[in-house]
Amino acid sequence: MTEQDLRRRSFLATAAAATGSALAGCSSIFGDGDDDDDGSQPDDAPTTRADNVEKYPRIQVGTVDDLSAGDVQTFDYPLDGKSNFLTRIDGQAWGGVGEEESIVAYSSLCTHMGCGVSEQVKPDQEMAGPCPCHYTTFDLSKGGLVVSGAATTDLPQIRLEVEDGEIYATGIDGLVYGQRHNLQDGDLISAEE
Ligand code: FES
Repeated sequence: MTEQDLRRRSFLATAAAATGSALAGCSSIFGDGDDDDDGSQPDDAPTTRADNVEKYPRIQVGTVDDLSAGDVQTFDYPLDGKSNFLTRIDGQAWGGVGEEESIVAYSSLCTHMGCGVSEQVKPDQEMAGPCPCHYTTFDLSKGGLVVSGAATTDLPQIRLEVEDGEIYATGIDGLVYGQRHNLQDGDLISAEE
């Protein structure tokens, strides 16, 4: 056997080994064709993780008849100690409920540094603020939009529903100040039965 034959044989052996190893890799990625899969999702699959995310509770936070124009009420949601305010502004609001779509609720915590703004709610002006710390004002008719001041993020708005005259909180649009997740790092308010 010539040296050239030996080189060719060595090359073919190396190529065959590489092909076998590549096929083994494909088998581990796509499965080996055996029917021993029970069909369940792995724990870290995106769809499994989505199913495990806690859902916002639906809780009653007031009644339409008990909330007159200009009233401001507070309630904790979705965690104990996370204060929000419920009010009825003079005009129509984005996400507002009730006949005039004027009932809204927002987080009480200013998005700048977390100072409370529920004492500065002015339903007749459709505003919350100026925040007592650095004077941010939020527009309650436009999803808590920052109108002026130091904050750069809108005030988180509580999603509301009305059923048989009762007002329910069902979720939040926006991240509550100080939270990495609105439903974590605290005790979840119990949902209505
Ligand atoms: S904490 Fe409200 S403006 Fe700074």
